[in-house]
Amino acid sequence: MTESFDFTPLFPPELPAAAVKWTGAPRYNFTGGNNDAGQVPVDGLMAAADAVLRREGRTLATYGLASGPQGYRPLRQFLAAKLKRDARISCSFDDILIVSGSLQALDLVNGVLLAKGDTVIVEEDTYQGALTRLARLGVNTVGIPLDRNGMRMDALAAQLANLKRRDIRPKYIYTIPTVQNPTGTIMPEERRSELLGLSEEYRVPIFEDDCYADLTWEELRPPALHAMSKTGGVIHIGSFSKSIAPALRVGFIVAGWQILSRILALKTDAGSGALEQMVLAEFCAPHFAEHIPKLRRSLRGKLDVLMETLNEQFGTAAEFDTPKGGIFLWVKLPDSVDTLKLFQSALAAGVAINPGPEWSTNGAHSKSRMRLCFANPSKEEIRQGITTLAQICRTTFGVPSRIANRE
Ligand SMILES: Cc1ncc(COP(=O)(O)O)c(C=O)c1O
Repeated sequence: MTESFDFTPLFPPELPAAAVKWTGAPRYNFTGGNNDAGQVPVDGLMAAADAVLRREGRTLATYGLASGPQGYRPLRQFLAAKLKRDARISCSFDDILIVSGSLQALDLVNGVLLAKGDTVIVEEDTYQGALTRLARLGVNTVGIPLDRNGMRMDALAAQLANLKRRDIRPKYIYTIPTVQNPTGTIMPEERRSELLGLSEEYRVPIFEDDCYADLTWEELRPPALHAMSKTGGVIHIGSFSKSIAPALRVGFIVAGWQILSRILALKTDAGSGALEQMVLAEFCAPHFAEHIPKLRRSLRGKLDVLMETLNEQFGTAAEFDTPKGGIFLWVKLPDSVDTLKLFQSALAAGVAINPGPEWSTNGAHSKSRMRLCFANPSKEEIRQGITTLAQICRTTFGVPSRIANRE
């Protein structure tokens, strides 16, 4: 295509930097929040698509109006029942808004609450998609360190008091309490109560991102913060990306009408894709409960291979805690390793990793850390990819000093 017309002088100054053109997936891809290809319930989705289209296909002639602007009603009904059963959230389908992936939920919640110069509280290591959005909005982010039980309440209490002394009321506390991204921790119920106590004391709402909550290794999960709140000061978001498939782009927001009514006024896309919602509702109502344990088992098998290979190839140079679920392992390498540099040299050899600093508010703490997504590569690709990564790390940084018990 000829491109002699120059648009550059027309771009507004705050536009993000230009995207890099996609040149294909790396051979060993440990990045992103991709899912386990073998576990996408393709046959079930095909049958669901066929059934729902035959029955209701003609409703596609309207802009989702058969169900109203909040999304396909049977999907919201499925969600209300599922949220009650698993997260113990009592809500009606009318308290749920279907959105185009929980990334859109982040944009919409930010859209109704944030203005340039505001302050929000986040976990120190957290989702890159949340951090880049906040940076772009010109919002100050205050990171709270985590331990093996999620966000540390002593540090949160100290920060809230400190901000209050400076007359700053943060707009929200963003947390991923159930299988945290990237650390894989689950915040226990008692700590959730403490968090709610602080949120109420300082009148700072909680923004609960629960998109990994279906992927816990243990059957039972703690109740959602939304379920435990006595004041309604929790906005809860979730997604089908991690439980079914990310390319469907279906997520949801659970909130009271005071917030939902403002969000609906901002969501001017005439509704999220209806076909995906219809197929999901048709599939999930009868099959979700049997699908999830299979997905968990497969993910856990891949995680075990990843941890085994890291131990074998990196030895004590790779430190990590076993995550409580999900699709990521958060790995600490020796202090001499700069994972932003490791990322570059590994990519040149076909291995993609997520460097720690992109997933953290603390540059020094995250410099030698990396996030590995184990859901998408096969077990064999995990073994080969990690073996290559160890060789590159050794060549670039001299660690691990021995590989697989060889000098
Ligand atoms: C914590 C968290 N929130 C939100 C998202 C966005 O997910 P989606 O837009 O696919 O629902 C992700 C994706 O990886 C995530 O890790």
